[in-house]
Amino acid sequence: MPRIKLIAGNWKMYKTPDQTRDFFHHFLPLVTHHDRDEILICPPFVDLHAALESAEGTNVMIGSQNIHWANEGAFTGEISPLVLQAIGVTHAIIGHSERRQYFGETDDTVNLRLKNALEAGLTPIVCVGEVLEEREAGLTEDVLRRQCTRAFHKVSTKKADKLVVAYEPVWAIGTGKTATPQMASDAHALIRGEAAQTFGHEFADKLRILYGGSVKPENAKALMSEPEIDGALVGGASLEPKSFAAIVHY
Ligand code: 13P
Repeated sequence: MPRIKLIAGNWKMYKTPDQTRDFFHHFLPLVTHHDRDEILICPPFVDLHAALESAEGTNVMIGSQNIHWANEGAFTGEISPLVLQAIGVTHAIIGHSERRQYFGETDDTVNLRLKNALEAGLTPIVCVGEVLEEREAGLTEDVLRRQCTRAFHKVSTKKADKLVVAYEPVWAIGTGKTATPQMASDAHALIRGEAAQTFGHEFADKLRILYGGSVKPENAKALMSEPEIDGALVGGASLEPKSFAAIVHY
């Protein structure tokens, strides 16, 4: 069974609710009949309602950019999976490099968030990826292995069913530098190998691994043509309806 690709937009800290509605007004007609790939948008929390209302009954799903490891409690500024589910959110990005870099996210907190997202029945998109110094020092494989092993720690194969992984080399995020299809493919194969070790080969064969890092309409086809690449996690180019639609239609 071929893996269905997931084309996901991570809006990061961009757009107001009105801008969100405007995006969907222009974006939805461009992807109305598209059923080859799954389409997902992850806006800021405050825009989730506008996004869910705009996308209701369409082929576009809505995800969050983070999720907490508890269902409720004294965790100022965090977001509960129960709250996300109550409003119709289906996916959650976990461990994005910007969370790791600026907000103290660690491999262990990624693991905690992943477990709770799976428990809640949400589809987690766990981000991994090396920084430039690590790549230049030949440490890419070690870093990806460590990030995967720790993220997957004590997650059962049965529970992991909905897991999605995104390989986002940090040096390619927002820089206009993309990993070559071959570089991405090699990293994805390594991640799939780690998943096979933890969850078994059958699971790993079905696991979707997205590529993220300066995906644009111009390079989407070459990246998405790699058998190891099961979709994209798009930052900047997902903010504009025409460019994100062009990536969806790669
Ligand atoms: P850019 O597509 O802007 O490089 O961002 C990638 C990313 O971080 C998606 O999560």
